Amino acid sequence: MKKIQIINGPNLNLLGRREPGVYGAAPFEGFLEDLRSAYGGRAQIDYFQSNIEGELIDKIHETGFGYDGIILNAGAYTHTSIALQDAIRAVPAPVVEVHISNVHAREAFRHVSMIAAACRGVVCGFGLDSYRLALEGLLKE
Ligand code: DQA
Repeated sequence: MKKIQIINGPNLNLLGRREPGVYGAAPFEGFLEDLRSAYGGRAQIDYFQSNIEGELIDKIHETGFGYDGIILNAGAYTHTSIALQDAIRAVPAPVVEVHISNVHAREAFRHVSMIAAACRGVVCGFGLDSYRLALEGLLKE
């Protein structure tokens, strides 16, 4: 049984209500329940969300030495945070960067990721299924 931490960053607490045309109409909690049922025998999936950059870093430190992988949607901090890149580099657990939307098909500032180079891989553009695809990748490690 692998231990996987999902970390969602700023504004992702509003999934289901926030720009549904871009991020979908489904709240994350229901999706998480389905994911846990589907992978119950193979993965322990823990979930954390914060709008605060330092709390995301703390969670990477807390889980990055004991978990088998981290799935990280850093939201807009993806495009700005060298501190998150350093946190990812600081821990041995593989981190997968995920995005619900295809950031490369959006505004130019979303094309840049400050964290991708430190990550094991990147999944974007598949809606909430991006998280499941990242999980599949981590379970194959
Ligand atoms: C996002 C894409 C980011 O550019 C944006 O700031 C988000 C969500 C996504 O999941 O598509 O907050 O990470």
